[in-house]
Amino acid sequence: MISETDFITNNYSIKINQGSSTWSAPSNIALVKYWGKKQDQIPANPSLSFTLKNCKTITKLSYSKKEDTGNFSFDLLFEGKPKEDFKPKIQKFLERIETYCPYLKNYHLTIDTENTFPHSSGIASSASGMAALAINIMSLEKELCPSITDEFFYQKASFLARLGSGSACRSINGNIVVWGTHNEIPRSSNLFGVEFPTQIHPNFNNYQDTILLVDKGEKQVSSSVGHDLMHNHPFAEQRFLQAPQNLSRIKSILETGNIEDFIKIVESEALTLHAMMLTSIPYFILMKPNTLEILNKIWEFRNRTKIPVCFTLDAGANVHVLYPENVIVETLQFIKDELVGYCQNGQYICDEIGFGVQKL
Ligand code: PMV
Repeated sequence: MISETDFITNNYSIKINQGSSTWSAPSNIALVKYWGKKQDQIPANPSLSFTLKNCKTITKLSYSKKEDTGNFSFDLLFEGKPKEDFKPKIQKFLERIETYCPYLKNYHLTIDTENTFPHSSGIASSASGMAALAINIMSLEKELCPSITDEFFYQKASFLARLGSGSACRSINGNIVVWGTHNEIPRSSNLFGVEFPTQIHPNFNNYQDTILLVDKGEKQVSSSVGHDLMHNHPFAEQRFLQAPQNLSRIKSILETGNIEDFIKIVESEALTLHAMMLTSIPYFILMKPNTLEILNKIWEFRNRTKIPVCFTLDAGANVHVLYPENVIVETLQFIKDELVGYCQNGQYICDEIGFGVQKL
């Protein structure tokens, strides 16, 4: 089994004076949710997500050699302009990965980043952002140790991304990714995400995700505070047993193509995530009235038309509307006619299953 120490890189040489790389990394949407963690970003239960295609972060990492003064040195640009308020998060990330990437202190880094989706949309940019930064750091590592294998390159990128933001480790490779050990997923690990190991049924090819922006305000509860609320949570033990069972079920659903059962698990997982927040101390309601209006409309539409549209939720008020590719026309019409009115400024983003990071 792969352990943390396997990711410590020692055999590098600081022979490159300067260079740069640019990668894009997508966001992902969990179907079986990660909510609750142990020390060092170890998940309390395994999770599974669809990788997205259009919602992504594009990051250019430039590096130039400097003396190792024992400190990190970096500039952070967002959409080309210095962004001081993002720096503490990056500083913390660099400190967390220092043991694994000791060469970083030999370079001054310029991190130039932008998202394809509006920053304040309530779409978590931490998953795509941390994944994009992690994969760029691996490009630098590859320059310093050219012998590393592709497998190590992507696995360590996922490992580093996890240390930035847990769910970011599911944004590196593969259109369906599992993070967290699970006895039916070979090579699954708490340390990094792995690509779903078996062939998925064609029903799930190009599965659609239309993200309805219900509330673009600041998150009421940060995900780190949220994860912490699972310590001493009255229902945590039960939840940590349920998630792996749901993962087993969804695994066989993804293989056999049963969309009816897919809907049951996915919607239940979304509501369970919110149920955990409703029942923690302190407690939170992260849905808005319009979130509930949308969920009811989706159920009504599905009952009426038998079109298999369902929803999932993040730790916020926005709704991800999930549906197969063969019902795009009817579903988009339904969204325009009946759901857009509940979105802030009528905003929504059309996305679908994607593949992962891309070198630009
Ligand atoms: O990666 P974090 O720490 O921001 O946590 C993300 C948690 C959820 O998005 C709510 C669920 C998930 O599995 O992505």
